Amino acid sequence: MKKSYLIAFESSCDDTAVAIIDADGRVLADVVHSQIAPHALYGGVVPEIASRHHLGRIAELTKQALQDAQISREDIGVVAATVAPGLIGALLVGAQFAKGFAQGLGVPFVGVHHIEGHVMAGANEADFPKGSFVALIASGGHSALYQVSVPFSIKLLGETRDDAAGEAFDKIARMLGLGYPGGKVIDELADKGDAARFPLPTALKMHTSYDFSFSGLKTAAKLLIAKLMKDGANIEGQLLYDVCASVRFAVVEALLRKAFLACRRLQIDNLVLGGGVAANSLLRSRAMQLGKDENIHVFLPAKNRCTDNAVMIALAAQRRVALGQFDALDVMVQSTREL
Ligand code: KG4
Ligand code: ZN
Repeated sequence: MKKSYLIAFESSCDDTAVAIIDADGRVLADVVHSQIAPHALYGGVVPEIASRHHLGRIAELTKQALQDAQISREDIGVVAATVAPGLIGALLVGAQFAKGFAQGLGVPFVGVHHIEGHVMAGANEADFPKGSFVALIASGGHSALYQVSVPFSIKLLGETRDDAAGEAFDKIARMLGLGYPGGKVIDELADKGDAARFPLPTALKMHTSYDFSFSGLKTAAKLLIAKLMKDGANIEGQLLYDVCASVRFAVVEALLRKAFLACRRLQIDNLVLGGGVAANSLLRSRAMQLGKDENIHVFLPAKNRCTDNAVMIALAAQRRVALGQFDALDVMVQSTREL
C-alpha cells in the first residue's frame, strides 16, 4: 500500500535512531546507533561530538531502516522527528534531515516532543492504557510525573528540582569508577548486593508535592564512598554490590512513592513508566508488585523502548497525525520546551 508508512527520527542526545511504523502502529524498522565510546572518554555526552556522529550516521541508518521495512521512500506518507528538548546541535541534525526528507517526498512533517515520545513508547501494545493514566518518565535528562487524559492532554504534576534519576545513577557510577553511562551497570551489580546495608536518603517524602530531588542522594553517596575509602576499603566485590544496591533502592523508592501517590490521589488506576531508568530491573519489579497490591495496572515498555529510540517518536507522531496536527517545515528545534 503506497504512502501508508510513517518514518521517525530521534537525535536529541547521543542515540541516532530511525524507525518506520505502519498505519496500525506495527514496527517495521527500529534502528538505533548508540554513541557510547566517543563520549565515555569524557565521562558524559559532549554536544559537538554527538552532533558530528549523528551527521555521520543518519543517512546510512535511514537506508538500513528502509531496507529492514522492505519499503521504498515513496511508500512514506509522513515524516516525524524530535524537535525538543535536547542538545541543540544534535536535534538540528535529525530535524533538518527529516524536514528535507519530507520536502523531497512532498509529505507532511510532525515535530515531536521527546518526553511525549517516552510517554507513548508502548502505545502500540495491547495492554497500553486506553483511558487516563499517570506517566512516570525518568531518564538521563528528565524525571517527571504527568497526568495524561483522554482525549489527549498531558499535565505536569511534578518533576525533579535538581538532578534527573538517570543523572544521579550516572554521577554515582562515575564516583565508583564504573564508566558512563552507569545506570545499567549499577543495576546489574546491585542484583548481587544488599540494599539494607547502607540506608541512603530519599528526599521530599512529604505528601504535598509530586516533585523529586536526587542531589541529596548524590551527596550522601559521595560521603559514603569517601568514608569507606578513608577507612581503607577498596570498593569492589561485595562492598561495591552493596553500595550499588543501596543507591538503586533509594532512587526506586523515591520515584515509585510519588508515582503511586499520584495514582491514589487522582484516583487513576493506570501507571505508565518510561525513559531510560524505566529499564531498571528493581524499578520494574517493585512497580509491578505495588501495582498488584494497590490494584493499579502498571504498563512497562520493553527495555529497548525505555531508552531513547525512534519508535516512541513514531508512535507519538501517529497520534498527532490522527488529529491532523502537522507542523510547518520552519518549526524550530528547542533545547528546552515544556510539554
Ligand atoms: O531515556 P534515555 O535513553 O536518554 C535520555 O533521554 O536521557 O535515558 C538514559 C539514562 C541514563 O542516565 C542511563 O544511565 C539510564 O537511563 N539507564 C538506567 C538503566 N538503563 C539506562 N538507569 C538505571 N537502570 C538501568 N537499567
Ligand atoms: Zn530520552
